[in-house]
Amino acid sequence: MRRIPPKLDKFMILACLFAVLGDPWGSAASAAGRSESCVECHKDDKFRVQNKKIYDYYQEWKGSAHDLAGLSCTACHNGDPAKAAKDEAHVGILPQSDPASPFYFKNIPKTCGGCHLPVLERFAQSRHFEQLKTTGRGPNCITCHGALNARVYSTTIIQRACSNCHNAKTKNHPEIIAQAQDILGRLNHANGYRKGLKFYYQSVKKPEAMGKVDSAYADTINFWHEFDFKKLGPRSQDLLAELKSLYLEAHKEESSQGDGR
Ligand code: HEC
Ligand code: HEC
Ligand code: HEC
Ligand code: HEC
Ligand code: HEC
Repeated sequence: MRRIPPKLDKFMILACLFAVLGDPWGSAASAAGRSESCVECHKDDKFRVQNKKIYDYYQEWKGSAHDLAGLSCTACHNGDPAKAAKDEAHVGILPQSDPASPFYFKNIPKTCGGCHLPVLERFAQSRHFEQLKTTGRGPNCITCHGALNARVYSTTIIQRACSNCHNAKTKNHPEIIAQAQDILGRLNHANGYRKGLKFYYQSVKKPEAMGKVDSAYADTINFWHEFDFKKLGPRSQDLLAELKSLYLEAHKEESSQGDGR
């Protein structure tokens, strides 16, 4: 559950994108506002009754982290956004069931990994990836994040995703549920300190000090995707301890500055 209001949230995502990547996709304005035939046609309300799936996919993408980062349909699907007619616009888009489609279930990690390479590198070493490739029973990126809305569930993902496959009935490592709860709880907690630090460094006009914090956090999140809990347990503890001590230090400085005035 997110406590930040949507507007602030959007601002934060844009701010991060500018800071880290220097606006790599041209305009970082919401892609929903741009004219692209895909969006123009797919957003039509008539699909609510005529083609529910098409309607739902558009609604999921709209307002997502991807939309807010200026990424529209063609970033993932190809096609020709300059053509208004459906068949011309759809040129090169294969049905999802075609093993050559970037959205064929086994190809999804590679498709998402095109932009999230550090995550993919870790994920490619996981038991999940191995199972996805061999038996088709491991989860892929969208099993956990949704296809178009790029949700980050954090602890609530355990009920939504993990326990579908890991439970007493399937006998597939039911014990990892409690471990996942601990680890994600710590990552969440660490992220709270990270947000506090961001606010603090901005207020003392030292936003560059966030570089270290953000990369420590991102490293651990990438690592999470290996799903090697023996390594991730201690790693998540280290991250929490590190961010907590930075936060307490900042807090001390803040109050001593307050006393000095
Ligand atoms: C004039 C309307 C129109 C335009 C323009 C359009 N689409 Fe579609 N699209 C549809 C409809 C309607 C469907 C539902 C399936 C069908 O009728 O072919 C669809 C289906 C799809 C599908 C599902 C796969 C499939 O073929 O059924 C994808 C993916 C897709 N569109 C992506 C895009 C992208 C990307 C663009 C822009 C490059 C785009 N569409 C442009 C109307 C449009
Ligand atoms: C971040 C990448 C990404 C973006 C951006 C994106 N999609 Fe998709 N889209 C996917 C993935 C992944 C799937 C496969 C979903 C699944 O398996 O449930 C998909 C599936 C679809 C489908 C159903 C495909 C089928 O064969 O039934 C439609 C329709 C669709 N997208 C339309 C769009 C439209 C329209 C946009 C822009 C408004 C868009 N997508 C933007 C990743 C993306
Ligand atoms: C064309 C590049 C591109 C592709 C392809 C892409 N993403 Fe992203 N993704 C981004 C950008 C840009 C952001 C926003 C900045 C950031 O958080 O890194 C983002 C953000 C995210 C986030 C974080 C959202 C948040 O609230 O922090 C998740 C999760 C995510 N993407 C998952 C996916 C998944 C799953 C796929 C494949 C279906 C995918 N991405 C495909 C570029 C891409
Ligand atoms: C089994 C579930 C699962 C799978 C599979 C998975 N992820 Fe994640 N991912 C998560 C969870 C849970 C988090 C959030 C951890 C946290 O922030 O507490 C996350 C975090 C992320 C983030 C970082 C969001 C942020 O906070 O900045 C990105 C980006 C991302 N995943 C992309 C991907 C991509 C790309 C793939 C496929 C190669 C993938 N994930 C596969 C569960 C999964
Ligand atoms: C689509 C089904 C599916 C989902 C969803 C899923 N997993 Fe898995 N997971 C598997 C399979 C299959 C294996 C391999 C089991 C084996 O070792 O044979 C596995 C293995 C694991 C392992 C490695 C266990 C070990 O000791 O080797 C961990 C840890 C794990 N999953 C964590 C998670 C977490 C956390 C989530 C939710 C964020 C999750 N999984 C979601 C199917 C799934």
